Amino acid sequence: MTAPIQGFSKLSKEEKINWIANNYTLNTEHTKEVLKVYWNSDTKLQKLHDEFIENTISNYYLPLGIAPNFLINNKLYAVPMAIEESSVVAAASKSAKFWLSRGGFKTTILGTEKVGQVHFIFKGDEKKLEAFFNTIKSKIYTDADELTTSMKKRGGGITNIELRNKTEDLENYYQLHCTFETLDAMGANFINSCLEQFAKTLKTEALVYADFSDDEKNIEVVMSILSNYVPNCVVRAEVSCTIEELSEGNIEEAQHLAEKLVQAVTIAKVETYRAVTHNKGIMNGIDAVILATGNDFRAIEAGIHAYASKNGKYSSLTDASIENGVFKFWIDVPLALGTVGGLTNLHPLVKVALDILQKPSATELMQIVAATGLAQNFAALRSLVTTGIQEGHMKMHLLNILNQLGATDEEKKTLTNHFKTNTVTHSAVVSAYNNLKND
Ligand code: MEV
Repeated sequence: MTAPIQGFSKLSKEEKINWIANNYTLNTEHTKEVLKVYWNSDTKLQKLHDEFIENTISNYYLPLGIAPNFLINNKLYAVPMAIEESSVVAAASKSAKFWLSRGGFKTTILGTEKVGQVHFIFKGDEKKLEAFFNTIKSKIYTDADELTTSMKKRGGGITNIELRNKTEDLENYYQLHCTFETLDAMGANFINSCLEQFAKTLKTEALVYADFSDDEKNIEVVMSILSNYVPNCVVRAEVSCTIEELSEGNIEEAQHLAEKLVQAVTIAKVETYRAVTHNKGIMNGIDAVILATGNDFRAIEAGIHAYASKNGKYSSLTDASIENGVFKFWIDVPLALGTVGGLTNLHPLVKVALDILQKPSATELMQIVAATGLAQNFAALRSLVTTGIQEGHMKMHLLNILNQLGATDEEKKTLTNHFKTNTVTHSAVVSAYNNLKND
């Protein structure tokens, strides 16, 4: 067994690679070579990436693709997507093109409220705590003035601070439940700095509050942190068309398709196993844009899945209806995004992605992301209820299999042509490849 190491972070990048390759891999030289192949020859750019995190040894590439033809509120976007799954960008593009000629996506911001909480323990009389909170509330705001001035100037800041009694859930547990408007910033640093200041005011003011007993004076702040659950930072994206427009075929086919799409959504509404996969497909689109635009996909994932369970049961994020001959398909999704600060100012590819999107505000980006998620879900459901998912999936996966087999460009061309009219399975590709080789 390899011995633990002290001071790994102090080693140079080269030393880190040597240590990891020598201690944890069998093909040491290969490991070192691969890790270094991914270093960027532009040393300034490489240094930038090295410094994003601790203990960087290389870069991890994901393809950056474009899904063009997204018509959102009558504005045309080409959406950058960073993702490894072969069929995702193709599906988004197909869906965007489909809706382009049917009025495109309509989106509405339903709210932009961000949340943070100071969690604390108070052992005493709840009524006295309430009176204390009301006495110091304005001081909580003014003590944070220095932190909020510039955000306020731009039209944002703290929107509310509320005392919440959570003692039914946990003995002596209370919170300051706080809401914020952070405009184009995701706002994590702003919110966390404000919360830590609120906690300080709460603690120090309690110590000198005359009506408190000694126990009550001793408020114990457990932690102060933003919440990634943002049920009031929500965007709606929707598409609609008449039933006739839904299918390129005849009206019966279109009616049948509309009904099956609604059934598919209804199943995802009531059945958790399906809902998770249904939403996973939506996240294919959402995460890819989140990553490309330098946002925090873990925060977004956590918030969205909690939102999908907001009624006590995990359910579909999308909805569908047929009314008066019109098929409507929509999503409500919480998205706390930023288009300034964080990686958006640092990562050259993120900056390019935001340029491609015409430098969107955070609310505009929310709308683009929601539309992409909806497009992805539409593409998945349409395949699932018609041809099945594997046809498209395996077509896109064909190149991966051919690459694994080591096919040349010429062989890939021949075999891609062959599989235009043949079903793609792993074994079919292997045998077609071998046949070609033996010709
Ligand atoms: C695959 O990445 C996503 C799908 O499974 C989504 C779905 O089933 O709706 C195709």
